[in-house]
Amino acid sequence: MREFTVLGLETSCDETAAAVVRGSAPGPGTILSNIVLSQLDEHAPYGGVVPEIAARAHIEAIDAIVERALGEAGLELGAVDAVAATAGPGLIGGVMVGLTTGKALALAAGKPLIAINHLEAHALTARLSEGVEFPYLLLLISGGHCQLLGVEDIGKFRLYGSTIDDAVGEAFDKTAKLLGLAYPGGPRIEQLAKDGNPKRFRLPHPLKGRAGADFSFSGLKTAVRQIAKGPDFREAQKADLAAAFQATVLDILTDRTEAAMAMFRLDFPNTDSPAFVMAGGVAANQALRSGLESLAARAGFIKKIPPPRLCTDNAAMIAWAGVERGQRGLFDPLGATARARWPLQDAPARGSLTAGTP
Ligand code: KG4
Ligand code: ZN
Repeated sequence: MREFTVLGLETSCDETAAAVVRGSAPGPGTILSNIVLSQLDEHAPYGGVVPEIAARAHIEAIDAIVERALGEAGLELGAVDAVAATAGPGLIGGVMVGLTTGKALALAAGKPLIAINHLEAHALTARLSEGVEFPYLLLLISGGHCQLLGVEDIGKFRLYGSTIDDAVGEAFDKTAKLLGLAYPGGPRIEQLAKDGNPKRFRLPHPLKGRAGADFSFSGLKTAVRQIAKGPDFREAQKADLAAAFQATVLDILTDRTEAAMAMFRLDFPNTDSPAFVMAGGVAANQALRSGLESLAARAGFIKKIPPPRLCTDNAAMIAWAGVERGQRGLFDPLGATARARWPLQDAPARGSLTAGTP
């Protein structure tokens, strides 16, 4: 297939991002530029992302971020093959800013638009970074999602398990808040856990050992709250509680992933050394990465895990999903809608336009 060069835009949460990626499926692709502007300082006083603040900050930043992405790539807009933008799921105001900007750029340059499902972009990132072939087993762990999926093709996923309550990133963020740590909590818990003894506190392991591969984290969060708000809890014990929480999350993820590995093997008996892929912001966590790498080695799966900077939200993954879809002629009309909710299972295997239609 001919190489594709795509400008990607990402604005579904609190990062305003633009990137230019060139490549050909199954990858790896070449990241010509990858600009991520975090709005952390603007949301910090509120202890979480405020949708209205996010949308306004995206509007203020997006034009300059696009210019920088094209500049660093050394390309004019006219030199890209398509413009890809996140069309959901996410905070609707932010998604609209990125998608509308993408439409305007596509229209102005006479290039096709590709409306990207943010989760599909996370799911395909290991092809951008590692060139992994379909099918593979994916553990998608982010702020809003926690799923185990068989990835068969673009828009073709088998769901093995998902969370019945909180997403794992949410559990990290809520635990961090209970411990008085700033948002986003994941990286701060990881840091604090390095100095802690994971064995000092015993926490529950919801759904561990149960049939299927679903997750549950709300009981864990409640247990952390009871300890952290208890009369005997001292500042000096925070690192131990963070370490216990992270070790428990790893234990739950390991148990559930092992169950999904068995399901994947039944579904794809002819895949000799199947790949195990992690994606989403929580996959940036080194302790979780190395724990799940050990599981993959034990279970005969080859680990293919993107570098941390491609696990957290970025636009290179959006551009790459655009490369994969664009190469197949899966384009979308300029009337494509922004969606707050958009489950991965509904990501169309076919674009809403046929090949070559701008
Ligand atoms: O994929 P992402 O950047 O945004 C969403 O699409 O949700 O994921 C953000 C989530 C947040 O909950 C954040 O706390 C978590 O990923 N996260 C981490 C780490 N880095 C980010 N969780 C644990 N350890 C980390 N190092
Ligand atoms: Zn994400």
